Amino acid sequence: MNKENIVVLDFGGQYSHLITRRIRELSVYAELLPFDTPASEIESMNPSGIILTGGPNSVYDKNSPKPDPKIFDLKIPILGICYGLQIIVNEMGGSITRTNKREYGKATLSISSNQKLFHGINSKTEVWMSHGDATETLPDNFVSIATTDNSPYAAINLKDLFGVQFHPEVTHTADGTKILRNFLYEICKCKGLWTMDSFVDKTVANIKSQVGDDSVLCALSGGVDSSTVALLLHKAIGDKLTCVFVDHGLLRKNEAKNVLDIFKKLNIKIIFYNESDRFLNLLDDVTDPEIRRKLIGQEFIKVFEEISKQNGSFKWLAQGTLYPDVIESASTKGPAVTIKTHHNVGGLPENLKFSLIEPFRELYKDEVRNVARIIDLPKEILARHPFPGPGLAVRIIGNFNNEKLSICRESSNIVEEELKKSNLYDDVWQAFAMVGDDKAVGVLGDGRKMGYIVTVRIVESTDAMTADWVKIPYDVLDNISSRITNEVDNVSWVTYAISSKPPSTIEPQ
Ligand code: XMP
Repeated sequence: MNKENIVVLDFGGQYSHLITRRIRELSVYAELLPFDTPASEIESMNPSGIILTGGPNSVYDKNSPKPDPKIFDLKIPILGICYGLQIIVNEMGGSITRTNKREYGKATLSISSNQKLFHGINSKTEVWMSHGDATETLPDNFVSIATTDNSPYAAINLKDLFGVQFHPEVTHTADGTKILRNFLYEICKCKGLWTMDSFVDKTVANIKSQVGDDSVLCALSGGVDSSTVALLLHKAIGDKLTCVFVDHGLLRKNEAKNVLDIFKKLNIKIIFYNESDRFLNLLDDVTDPEIRRKLIGQEFIKVFEEISKQNGSFKWLAQGTLYPDVIESASTKGPAVTIKTHHNVGGLPENLKFSLIEPFRELYKDEVRNVARIIDLPKEILARHPFPGPGLAVRIIGNFNNEKLSICRESSNIVEEELKKSNLYDDVWQAFAMVGDDKAVGVLGDGRKMGYIVTVRIVESTDAMTADWVKIPYDVLDNISSRITNEVDNVSWVTYAISSKPPSTIEPQ
């Protein structure tokens, strides 16, 4: 358990993860827990503070999510944000009403009381609002410490209980970071113990004592997450680590060779298995992407169990599961819906014969990248775009077959090459090509030929939770398109995906 932590209770707001990350960026560990986590459980974690997130509900709805009321007796500072403020008002005996002065977007906050929460902030500052309900009457003894034109209770306080109607976690709130910092350092008296250096030291020590003299098998995908897990484990247990790199036939072009070369240079034991036929036979003609994910996940585990038998006994299996995967897969989280089953969590069979080591279960992707930098993961891996565990399988829409797989792989490689040539590769989050079953007419010489439609997707993002399509210069798109239609067999059209996440996702399925 982390020595210093903040509990963020999730009421289903779209910014819940963002709040958690913002706090970690301020060097305090934060954990996102379901809104109804019992107060006794929270108390046992000994948090320095509690944050109640926003959420889509109205507190006066019968079934709206409410916290365990005993959290207010714990004598731990609490900050309620938006719906979180309304929870405080409601629980403490004030009243909330649907207002006809809904506030969405920017508002000017007038700070009326120079509370610790607003330390170092000018008396007028821009904030971001998003609410239809508002406080009608304050609970006894509470005071308003800031207002906007439409909200007399834009921020409220009683002792160590604070509520803000606006969102300090979004960048549109000019002094949002200062407000969160004040809550952490002035009110919760945090010291700022969460740094990636300390995480690395702590994790290396934990792995050493957890593993003892046992051997660990690490499932390597070649991506940043699993490569960083491998390098970290190597630092902790040296030769007791064996990496296994399975080519499931769904990798990017030349990926297997590149990964093997890099790990050999790092002196990390690596066994390579080319299991392409096995996986591709399994996927042949499977159209449902979720079934593909599960098939791939299950086959992976079977492969690892076989490998483990062949290579001596491994008690542990290490993998690069991240915090959002754990949270997204947890059904405990009130209103969350599983959008995609990420294979390293969703596909694991119940009767797993390994014990799992997942050192990054509590990290966000940008934090893993910081760990990677600290432990000197080679640039070739660090700079590579994220790639899904089930590989190109999620980019083949409709029927799965080897022809579409090859089209997807070759076209994606062209997208990457052209971005590198124009020095854009490092500026974007992910760039790839996908293919479905639709065909369109093309002209080849004097002939008319039906060919596949390839769609190019290039997105920018900071954490894959939200993303936007990149406004790539036309000449680069032009090169990509003409190279794909000229160099990849049986493609007649190239299109560009211009949907952001949300409402779309990054991968097509
Ligand atoms: P979406 O498509 O959900 O993707 O916007 C967000 C990020 O996750 C990657 N992704 C996956 N990674 N297994 C993985 O390990 C999967 O099944 C999977 N599906 C999507 C995606 O590439 C993006 O970076």
